[in-house]
Amino acid sequence: MFGGMSNLWKKSFQEAFEGKVSFSDSEDLRRKLASDHTEDLVFMPGLVVEPANTQEVQEVLIWSNANGIPVTPAGAMTGLSGGALPVEGGISLSTRRLNRIICIDERNHQVVVEPGVIVQELQEAVQACGLFYAVDPASRGTCTIGGNLAENSGGPRAVKYGVTKDWVLNLEVVLMDGTVIQTGANTLKNSTGYNLTALMVGSEGTLGVITRATLKLLPWPRHTALMLVPFGDAEAACRAVSEIFQQGNQPSALEFMERSAIELAAEFVGIAPPAMDASTQAHLLIEVDGFEPSALMPQLERIYPAVNACGAGEPLLAEDEAAKNQLWRLRRVVGEAVKAASTYKEEDTVVPRGTLPELLEAVKAVGASHGFESICYGHAGDGNLHVNILKRGVSEEVWEKELPVAIRAIFEKVVALGGTISGEHGIGWVQRPYMDLAFGPAELRLQQAIKDQFDPKGLLNPGKIWPVEVSKI
Ligand code: LAC
Ligand code: ZN
Repeated sequence: MFGGMSNLWKKSFQEAFEGKVSFSDSEDLRRKLASDHTEDLVFMPGLVVEPANTQEVQEVLIWSNANGIPVTPAGAMTGLSGGALPVEGGISLSTRRLNRIICIDERNHQVVVEPGVIVQELQEAVQACGLFYAVDPASRGTCTIGGNLAENSGGPRAVKYGVTKDWVLNLEVVLMDGTVIQTGANTLKNSTGYNLTALMVGSEGTLGVITRATLKLLPWPRHTALMLVPFGDAEAACRAVSEIFQQGNQPSALEFMERSAIELAAEFVGIAPPAMDASTQAHLLIEVDGFEPSALMPQLERIYPAVNACGAGEPLLAEDEAAKNQLWRLRRVVGEAVKAASTYKEEDTVVPRGTLPELLEAVKAVGASHGFESICYGHAGDGNLHVNILKRGVSEEVWEKELPVAIRAIFEKVVALGGTISGEHGIGWVQRPYMDLAFGPAELRLQQAIKDQFDPKGLLNPGKIWPVEVSKI
């Protein structure tokens, strides 16, 4: 089946696993796991392995560890930092077959899932039982829970409900040497030992392969109201964000979109953008939720004075579910729309939300000094701004040379404002060169020591998180 010297390891894998574990070296399948939603990066794995249960994951890791073959866990390849790209080849360990919802525990408001479950399918399955899974990334229709756990994904509802880590009670994880561990307990509280669950969530598949997760749920029903608020000044929209909270409001989503973001999204979807004045520069998309529909409008009315004081225009209220869905659809596709519009580079900046206006101002100033156009949008309520720098007419030479300088300048400002270099997309492959801005040598060494403890040979998702020079410390 496999030919050539460089494929010796594949032959050996075949001998060990033929008829036992599903695997393939078909060009088509390998290509599917060779790229994700990060820029236009492509890294072909040598083999795609699709285990169907924990024991198969265990056997594959034991074999890889013994034979020195890199293993990169892979979900739906919707990642935005290249976390699941097999940058050193070897095996892409797909979670496609680990896709069962094992148990919805209605009595305890918990669900046990395998990593390959699509997030929206999980949301719908628990909703059918009167329950609510709160984490809602923009790519929920395609991304997997395993990918969300790996990157500690957030999304629009994080401002009220938190991010993936806040909903994880316990994980089953297979370590590189084949050991299977439980990181916690299926309890709402746990002060027992180090928090291995928290360590594992957001570790980008570099410490172990998650094969099962116990997640916390909330009761359904959940009713929502949504308004789109225009601003003639984008920085004023950012100022309104902290004002909303300071006046005692708790929206369930508070998203920022520059005018160009919403226009690009509408064009991408093929619909007219929401009506807006020629002077509109940005919008806040504000959602409130609750058990009682009658309590929603008063919540929005209470928010209005805060945005009004910052110079908001007339808000557009989504009158019905269809109008809400339409606005959310526009918001959810911004990322894809940007990608379709131009070669781009995305930075997942996050700052304390009160400093958002300064961040936006700095991004625009850096863009102007390097001649780059940027489109900003994101989870303003979390201080999490997705900065998309577009190549458009910029020459290849300027793009290659100036872009890293511009990104570093943006991240330096982020850190000076008390923020950090990724809010929800992870470091993965593409943000490694900037890790020195987020951490000093002491913290980086400590993190590297943790990695070494879990994966001494450095075979599990190699090449991720660590800047090259630190990985040699
Ligand atoms: C979003 C993704 C890109 O917020 O995180 O749309
Ligand atoms: Zn986002």
